[in-house]
Amino acid sequence: MKIDKIGEWSEIKLEIIKEYAHAFTTIMKNQSWCQGYAYIDAFSGLGVHISRKTGEFIKGSPLNALEIENPFTEYHYIDIDKEKTKVLSRLTHDIPNIKIYEGDSNEILRKDILPLLTYETRKKPLCILDPYGLHLHWETIVAAAKLKTIEIFLNFPLMDMNRNVLHKDLLSADPDQIERMDRFCGSNEWQEILYEEDKQMNLFGDTYKVKVVNSNIKLGAWFKKERLEKAAGFKFISEPVLMRNSKGGPLFFLFFASHNETGKKIVNEIFEKYRGYL
Ligand SMILES: C[S@@+](CC[C@H](N)C(=O)[O-])C[C@H]1O[C@@H](n2cnc3c(N)ncnc32)[C@H](O)[C@@H]1O
Repeated sequence: MKIDKIGEWSEIKLEIIKEYAHAFTTIMKNQSWCQGYAYIDAFSGLGVHISRKTGEFIKGSPLNALEIENPFTEYHYIDIDKEKTKVLSRLTHDIPNIKIYEGDSNEILRKDILPLLTYETRKKPLCILDPYGLHLHWETIVAAAKLKTIEIFLNFPLMDMNRNVLHKDLLSADPDQIERMDRFCGSNEWQEILYEEDKQMNLFGDTYKVKVVNSNIKLGAWFKKERLEKAAGFKFISEPVLMRNSKGGPLFFLFFASHNETGKKIVNEIFEKYRGYL
């Protein structure tokens, strides 16, 4: 099985999630109303990576979550790749309260996992949405937000967006790729935010649309305010961390969204600590 090599930015992402997961269960174990706290890794991978920096094996997010001091009371891991779920099942066979699902997390979250964690169950979920690219659907984020108790880390995949959709002129993007972007954002309003008409260029009657400057920052700000806050209803959203590759190229925003102010405060502190490295 091919094991992914990951860059420093992914190692930082793993550290951030691990630190917050530790804080999350430490707080939750002292809340008398809370009947359990669930960890969901909806794009879990196989559980290990190879560090590009050191060449050594490092644990992925699903294994890190098993190592925190106060374990979660249940774990749900999803991956679409059968080989990966097989390896992850082997690596975790001796841990109780784990369920590993093979398939599309957009379906499995909505049909099988979120209904087990409704407000009435008094369980508190932390959900990691860490796809490589535009594989997450907006309805999945909305279904999660509707629980009113869930907290999410979301990998907002700028690299996939910039490479496949957000070309300098929107007309040159493949319509299927534009649809993937709409599906992720749950809206095509990003086109208005990121593109403006070029009055001098008019190709065969089509309006030529060019990308505005600072498009990544504008896109992130729009997604935070208009989508996560207004459309999905998350009340507390941290200023996302922009992860870049070693040449400074933007890779993804790491978002955190919650219905709870304490979670946001803790994540803000963790984000600030790591922003210095980026
Ligand atoms: C970035 S990796 C996850 C890494 C992991 N969170 C970690 O940090 O160790 C993304 C994973 O999502 C899986 N994937 C892609 N599309 C998916 C989908 N629709 N549903 C579930 N898993 C998917 C891929 O097979 C891959 O293992």
